[in-house]
Amino acid sequence: MNVCTTFEDARGRVSGRVGLVPTMGYLHEGHLRLVETAAGENDATIVTVFVNPMQFDDDTDLDGYPRDLERDLGLAARAGADVVVAPSVTYVYPEDHRTTVTVAGVTDAMEGHHRPGHFAGVATVVAKLFAGLRPDTAYFGRKDAQQLAVIAAMARDLSFPVDVKGVPVVREVDGLALSSRNVRLSPDARRAASTLSAGLMAAADLIEDGSSDVAAILAAARSPMEADPLVRIDYVELADARSASPTRTLGGKQFIAVAAVVDGVRLIDSLTILDGDVDRGEVLPSSSILYGGT
Ligand code: PAF
Repeated sequence: MNVCTTFEDARGRVSGRVGLVPTMGYLHEGHLRLVETAAGENDATIVTVFVNPMQFDDDTDLDGYPRDLERDLGLAARAGADVVVAPSVTYVYPEDHRTTVTVAGVTDAMEGHHRPGHFAGVATVVAKLFAGLRPDTAYFGRKDAQQLAVIAAMARDLSFPVDVKGVPVVREVDGLALSSRNVRLSPDARRAASTLSAGLMAAADLIEDGSSDVAAILAAARSPMEADPLVRIDYVELADARSASPTRTLGGKQFIAVAAVVDGVRLIDSLTILDGDVDRGEVLPSSSILYGGT
């Protein structure tokens, strides 16, 4: 596996169909599933590791973001990556960088509302990755369902010839969606964090039982979080998968997204629904190799 610091160098090392897995590093099993999927579907797979300062609204969150490049390189290689690009902040954003990509509408609600500027940072860096690395297909986790909608809209609007693909959420045994932020949870917060997925699974049960009562479905999603004193809900919404507009009617491709602060750590999760079929994600049999740095 090659390790590069520039897009030009990385692009020069691959040929044929190229899959791209953008990450902020500190890889976990969810990232590895993206890499494995990309490696299975392409001639070459590029993984980027870049903690993008432009998408953080809070310096403490940026400074505290976990990093371990050496470990990431080993995991990416094992999952089938051909090239890892780990550029510097000054390479991605030189002093005279002046362009920001904003995606209207799809960023209005949920994460866009709670984290102003966040999606402009995501759209800008991913547009730079698409332009610099020219992938045929790019892979993103469905946990960040609104991010997936924002990136797909950006790619369509800017005519990037890339297929933007969502890959199912990977979960621990109790349902907690894998996230690099999970390492910041205290033991009590870790227990409380499972209420996000518990609510989503209760909502999934109702949908699969044929309910179309969206108020009841969203109430079921909220209920376990509301019962836990360590959890403060930011939002629970049903939204259209393409426009990310919240809706009160079930149908077509949609997602239920939840966001909550669990004892100081902000977590998100989501459930993708296609015409009554629910993608609950993949539950791992064991949590042994999920998080590094310890
Ligand atoms: O989902 C992430 O890890 C980031 O938002 C992404 C897509 C790598 C952009 O920095």
